[in-house]
Amino acid sequence: MPLLLVLLILLAATLLLCKWRGNHWRRLGLEAPFGWPLVGNMLHFALARRSYGEVYQQIYTQHPNLKYVGFYRLFNEPAILLRDQELLRQILVGSDFASCADNAVHVDHQRDVLASHNPFLANGDRWRRLRADLLPLFTPSRMRQTLPHVAQACQLLRQQVPHGRFEAKDLATRYTLQVVASAIFGLDAHCLGSHSRVAPPSRWLEWLAPLFQPSAWSLLETMSLLHSPRLARLIGHRYVPLSLQRWFRELVAARSGGDNLLQWLAESKRGLEEEQLAGHATTLLLEGYETSAMLLAFVLYELALNEAAQQRLHSELDAVAQRHAGQLLNQVALAELRYGEAALLEALRLHPAMQALQKRCTKSFTLPAQKSGANSELHVAVGTVLVLPVQAIHLDPELYPAPNEFRPDRFLNQPPMGCRFLGFGAGPRMCPGWRLGLLQTKAALATLLQEHRVLLADEEQCRVQVSPLTFLTASRRGIWLRFQRRTTS
Ligand code: HEM
Repeated sequence: MPLLLVLLILLAATLLLCKWRGNHWRRLGLEAPFGWPLVGNMLHFALARRSYGEVYQQIYTQHPNLKYVGFYRLFNEPAILLRDQELLRQILVGSDFASCADNAVHVDHQRDVLASHNPFLANGDRWRRLRADLLPLFTPSRMRQTLPHVAQACQLLRQQVPHGRFEAKDLATRYTLQVVASAIFGLDAHCLGSHSRVAPPSRWLEWLAPLFQPSAWSLLETMSLLHSPRLARLIGHRYVPLSLQRWFRELVAARSGGDNLLQWLAESKRGLEEEQLAGHATTLLLEGYETSAMLLAFVLYELALNEAAQQRLHSELDAVAQRHAGQLLNQVALAELRYGEAALLEALRLHPAMQALQKRCTKSFTLPAQKSGANSELHVAVGTVLVLPVQAIHLDPELYPAPNEFRPDRFLNQPPMGCRFLGFGAGPRMCPGWRLGLLQTKAALATLLQEHRVLLADEEQCRVQVSPLTFLTASRRGIWLRFQRRTTS
């Protein structure tokens, strides 16, 4: 009997605690949904039914009149989802940047030594130093010097245009791995090219291509990275697996000079130790191929769906090629492919690589009242996560009319898009590699479409579905396309 009583008291206390925790925002006077134990407001993400971007999009669209919404992430962690463009600007670019400059991601810097050099995963002064090391590698003049690596990979790509149906992300990953191996280390990754029977299988492909793809573990890994260092320890998750860490150190130790990113880095920062160089090489590699490959696959997919846009791109490719004696892979010709670039940005709007940016408050600050006209400010406490829901913003009909339609014109002759377009982030933490990302995808797009049309593999194919399992956007079942030789070019 006393045992039963104790159990009842414990149960009642647990329920009260859950109720109290789930009403964190309401107690502070904020309009917010109730936060359920463990899953908060992210049940569908926890059950692998929806991607985290889709969950945030639902919260965003359900509160059209609020500047921000209090809600609960996984493990019932109170967080704030920002909706208002001015507030987004203030946090990414403006006066509140210093109060929430850190990304809300968890990596154990002792276990994940090379990943700890990645600015994306670093905080405070360390972030500033690491980023400053990398920035000089991405200036327009360095991009000009990187173009030969890209052009070489494009030549191989041209010889490898698949006959019959193919999976676009697979082809795109082969290409971007070929580019980054060459641009960073000056190495031939053998991801494209003569697949002769005697050639050894490419370790680049074998080890790196699956890294960001959905798998049985991906959801737990995504949860570890975004929500729980404890879970990461439990499942032994490493952002860079040990085998890769060993291999990257070997690659850096065996470098042999030449005109490549690693060499430029070693020359410009002479004080860098081998371990720091290996860390930077790891960042360049891991950040360099996956996001660009996904973008290339998605732009091909959107062009296959949108015949008029593809025709317009073909006209541009023909006109620019005519002005440059048939050659598109030089700096001037690529710069003239303005519709091509707009198509890439539009594909990135529809399919952002990161569906949300998530920042952590490191110095308390205040947000204005949640609704226009109301008068109570919100004091944001240190540790609170701020969610900037990129996918929701990109698909907001008030910001982009007919948001689900692929209309590259949106990005032609436009003033800067501010925080309406966050495909590369914005402000001091914006992607430093965006020029390389656009360069390699644009060069590949020009190479593939100069002589070919791209079509869906099957006319009946349904729209590509996004995997709910991964941190970087990936498709559930691949993106299946086919090429058809153009009759005129
Ligand atoms: C189409 C290709 C790419 C896309 C869509 C993309 C997107 C992004 C996004 C959304 C962020 C987060 C920005 C933020 O936190 O506000 C980011 C960060 C970053 N990206 Fe990229 N990226 C691309 C290509 C590249 C390339 C080619 C490199 C380098 C080789 C690179 C290196 C980085 C690094 C180092 C960061 C962390 C920056 C920091 O926290 O200061 N990215 N990228």
